[in-house]
Amino acid sequence: MASYNLLLLPGDGIGPEVMAEVERVIRWLDANSGVHFETETDLVGGSAYDVHGVAITDETMKTAMAADAVIFGAVGGPKWDAVPYEVRPEAGLLRLRKDLELFANLRPAICYPALADASSLKREVVEGLDILILRELTGGVYFGEPKEIVTLENGEKRAVDTQVYTTHEIERIARVAFELARARRNKVTSMEKRNVMRSGVLWNQVVTAVHKAEYPDVQLEHMLADAGGMQLVRWPKQFDVIVTDNLFGDMLSDVAAMLTGSLGMLPSASLGAPDPATGKRKALYEPVHGSAPDIAGKGIANPIAMIASLGMALRYSFDMGEAADLVDGAIADVLASGTRTADLAAKGQNSVSTREMGEAIVKAMAKRAG
Ligand code: NAD
Ligand code: IPM
Ligand code: MN
Repeated sequence: MASYNLLLLPGDGIGPEVMAEVERVIRWLDANSGVHFETETDLVGGSAYDVHGVAITDETMKTAMAADAVIFGAVGGPKWDAVPYEVRPEAGLLRLRKDLELFANLRPAICYPALADASSLKREVVEGLDILILRELTGGVYFGEPKEIVTLENGEKRAVDTQVYTTHEIERIARVAFELARARRNKVTSMEKRNVMRSGVLWNQVVTAVHKAEYPDVQLEHMLADAGGMQLVRWPKQFDVIVTDNLFGDMLSDVAAMLTGSLGMLPSASLGAPDPATGKRKALYEPVHGSAPDIAGKGIANPIAMIASLGMALRYSFDMGEAADLVDGAIADVLASGTRTADLAAKGQNSVSTREMGEAIVKAMAKRAG
């Protein structure tokens, strides 16, 4: 029987609350899918800082390197607002992305039929929406050097972040975009700001060159990222795959989340390059949302983004397409039955707890599996 090692990193705030529900799904799959999942749980973010003084230890990094996949909750919160920048909770996540070389971040935004009225946008704008934001995850202004605050001679301070992209970094993310588009509706929209940024000029040139040389069959369009943000809320169904840099991808995917009804709906997969010998990729799966300090501890967070992230792990790391469809189908069934966590419920509508939503999804999986 196939067996996989999962490293679970619940993190902070609602992270552990939504992770408990993904564990429920893992236990069900372990018992029913014919595949064994071995799990190990460790600290990351503020909870790691409180114990170890860093947001992730070298030991945990080693376990992450060796795992078949990392399942990540969320990190951060006001408790750690004053800790030094280098050891902030978010640094744990950034180290995982950088050291595991998870350069390709897939953020699908799907509007489930039952949620077409939960979005802040009109039903006709979001109904049937199925787009994929592909965010470059290990380059750009997140990691470019210098990155510092220096004190000038006159006592003033100067803060610097540096946006850097190389040809290689843009080529590899462009290839992932075109490959993904071929398996979808065959269209890629590349977003940058070539009108003001040198990195945008190079991004545009490299994506164009990769397209011409290797993927001329895919439809490619270029959009300035600010206009892209506007188009995302004007008529999002014009898009199929959007490929963009680390920072624009961060912002545009939070915008896209609201097209689906709630930030609590958006899963993500962060993938490395396939190992030339084994074909296996390093991978981390996490919801797009954060630790939601405003609702943490109340047991009302929506676990769907977390559970759908596990669904992506089944699809992209374990070649378990049917099990992934089962998870996605169960989520659709539960939403269709009217079950809603508070973030999705209409005014006056009853809502369920995080746990009740997790239980309902596992029940729906069992029902579908017969
Ligand atoms: P957030 O995503 O945590 O919350 C934004 C809003 O969305 C809040 O009102 C929250 O209640 C709501 N929300 C988010 N997830 C939800 C869910 N599953 N169910 C119901 N409602 C949900 O963003 P923020 O408040 O800007 O950031 C809080 C902290 O989280 C910060 O420290 C930030 O750095 C961190 N963060 C971490 C990650 C991550 O770990 N991947 C991602 C984003 C933000
Ligand atoms: C995300 C988050 C992270 C990011 C933070 C927590 C480092 O906002 O995954 O979207 O900015 O990439
Ligand atoms: Mn973000």
